[in-house]
Amino acid sequence: MDNQNAAKVEPSPLSSSETTTSTRDVAAKTEVESLKPSTAQPIKPAAAATAKPAAAQAVKKPKQDKPPENDLGIWRISRRNFFSVAGWAAFFVFLATSTIGTLRMMFPRILYEPPSAFKAGFPEDYLVGEVSEKYKDDFRVWIVREPEGFYALSAICTHLGCTPRWLAADNKFKCPCHGSGFRRTGVNFEGPAPRPLERLKISLADDGQILVDRNIKFRFENGDWIKPECYLKYS
Ligand code: FES
Repeated sequence: MDNQNAAKVEPSPLSSSETTTSTRDVAAKTEVESLKPSTAQPIKPAAAATAKPAAAQAVKKPKQDKPPENDLGIWRISRRNFFSVAGWAAFFVFLATSTIGTLRMMFPRILYEPPSAFKAGFPEDYLVGEVSEKYKDDFRVWIVREPEGFYALSAICTHLGCTPRWLAADNKFKCPCHGSGFRRTGVNFEGPAPRPLERLKISLADDGQILVDRNIKFRFENGDWIKPECYLKYS
């Protein structure tokens, strides 16, 4: 076997010095080749330097502290949302009005009127022959003082309900609406009034003041004026 390999080896035609020189050339050539830049992965310093900031810019998002001017934010609403919001608004309005109406029904409408009975002061406060209009504005009542006593007249015209005026110079009541006239007793004598003025219950209260009750009325045409509650005797 060794003989066969030995037979295949051919003797080099170069001398030993020539062989050494050739080896040095190959080594130098290899060294030069190693100093050349690799073509497989070319690295350009400038390109590498610029690539890194570009990638950073691609990842980094710009800050937006302020929203755009035309951005409506939460008020941005679509047509479907608009009808939804409008429907809910109508529902709540209906609910509120229904609740208010229900609560309002729990409190009856009360008309606050002055009390029907009121005290008209002491008899000594009136002069004989006087027609007092002191309680006309508040209670629509005249207090008439006569030598024998008092009576109270309703200041409501028996025609259509206006308030007549007391004309002391003419010694009569005159209605400004249609001209009805009433004597100081309350009896009608001119104009369209169909009947005399009404008289009211008059008495003395426990404290000695005159007490008038507007709820109890006396009509002349019914013969009520002769009733004792219609006249307060005082002398
Ligand atoms: S209301 Fe008094 S005269 Fe008509």
